[in-house]
Amino acid sequence: MHSKDAYLTAGSPQSVWGIKVKDPQKFMRDRPDLFTAGGEETLPYPAVNIGFALFSPICPHLGCYYEWKPFANRFVCPCHGSQFDRSGAHVAGPATRGLDPLPLRERNGIAQCQWIRYSPTIPNRIVVSYIA
Ligand code: FES
Repeated sequence: MHSKDAYLTAGSPQSVWGIKVKDPQKFMRDRPDLFTAGGEETLPYPAVNIGFALFSPICPHLGCYYEWKPFANRFVCPCHGSQFDRSGAHVAGPATRGLDPLPLRERNGIAQCQWIRYSPTIPNRIVVSYIA
């Protein structure tokens, strides 16, 4: 895996999911697990940056790769059926939390994200590994 300054650049072999966040206030309401009641992020990086939120492609249940199902307007995991809405909030199935966020930044006109792996299964988001 190639990284620069711990961030992956476009064209890296890893892929992530990203959504355009048009209404940050709505995103905060949809993903309260990423923010405190006062609106501060609970993450050590911005959950939304340059108008986008990125999600790890790994299902927080047991680690399968989920897919976007446009007709259902949901992310759906093929392994045990967990479902997540467009904001990444958990809406069905055995996963115990919403989709895991990833840091995003822009450098010289290029979007970069940092790869982080979180512990599966548990409701709390605990970092297992990351590229440093
Ligand atoms: S690994 Fe995704 S629902 Fe089980």
